[in-house]
Amino acid sequence: MRQQLVAGNWKMHGSLASNAALLGEVLAGVATARCEVAVCVPYPYLFQVQQLLQASQITLGAQDCSMHASGAHTGEVAVSMLQDFGCRYVIVGHSERRADHHESDVLVAAKAERVLEAGMTPIVCVGETLAQREAGETTAVVLRQLQAVTHLLGEQTQRIVVAYEPIWAIGTGRTASPEQAQEVHGVLRAHLRSVGEAAGGVRILYGGSVKPDNAQVLFSQTDIDGGLIGGASLKASDFLAVVAAAR
Ligand code: 13P
Repeated sequence: MRQQLVAGNWKMHGSLASNAALLGEVLAGVATARCEVAVCVPYPYLFQVQQLLQASQITLGAQDCSMHASGAHTGEVAVSMLQDFGCRYVIVGHSERRADHHESDVLVAAKAERVLEAGMTPIVCVGETLAQREAGETTAVVLRQLQAVTHLLGEQTQRIVVAYEPIWAIGTGRTASPEQAQEVHGVLRAHLRSVGEAAGGVRILYGGSVKPDNAQVLFSQTDIDGGLIGGASLKASDFLAVVAAAR
C-alpha cells in the first residue's frame, strides 16, 4: 500500500515568529502520524524551518523553482539552492503560478525535470477551472497537464508526486466531493499506469479546501494518497487533524 503524504503549502504566509509558533505546536502533536508529513514554505524561511525541523519526522519542501539550473536569472531560485537547505519536495505548476505567472505545461514539465535532476521530488499540480469543469473538459485539461510532464520524464515519472487541485475548490471552502475527486484521480492513475508499472504507483494527492471535517473521507478513496493543504496547514490543530486522518 502507498504511504500517504500530507503536505502543507503555506503559500505566501508566515513570519519568523509565527513559523516558530506554528511548528512548535505541530511538532508537539505529529509523533503519532501514520502518514508522511511535509511543509512547503516560502523561500526566505527555508533556513529557519530546516533548523526547526531538524531531527523531526517532518520533511521540508519549497513552493516553486527556476526552470534553469543556474545563471543570469534575476529573482529566480535554482533547485541546487533548495537542495542546499535540505528540501525533499518542490511544488511545481501550482494553479496560482500557472495563473499569476503564465506558467505553461512545458515550463512546468521542465521544472519537474530540474527537481528530479537535483535528487528531490516534484509535486506536480494539475487542475481545472470551474468553467472547464462545467464545459465537461476536466479530463482533457488534467491529462494535458500531466502528459506534458510524463512525456518529458518517461520512466522517471515514477519519482514524482502528483496533486489534483480543482481550481474552483482552492481557498473557496468548496471541496470536490470524494466521488468527484476519485473520478479524476482514477483518470490520472490510468494515465500513470500507461507510462509504466512503477509510474502507476505514484502518489496522487488531493488539494482544495481539505479540512479536518472532510479529510478522512477524501483520504479513504482508492486513488487518493494524501493531500496538499493550504489554509488548514496554517493552524496547528487543523493541520494535525488532517494529518491524523491520513494513513
Ligand atoms: P486550500 O487548502 O486553502 O484550499 O489550498 C489548497 C492549495 O492550493 C494547496 O496547494
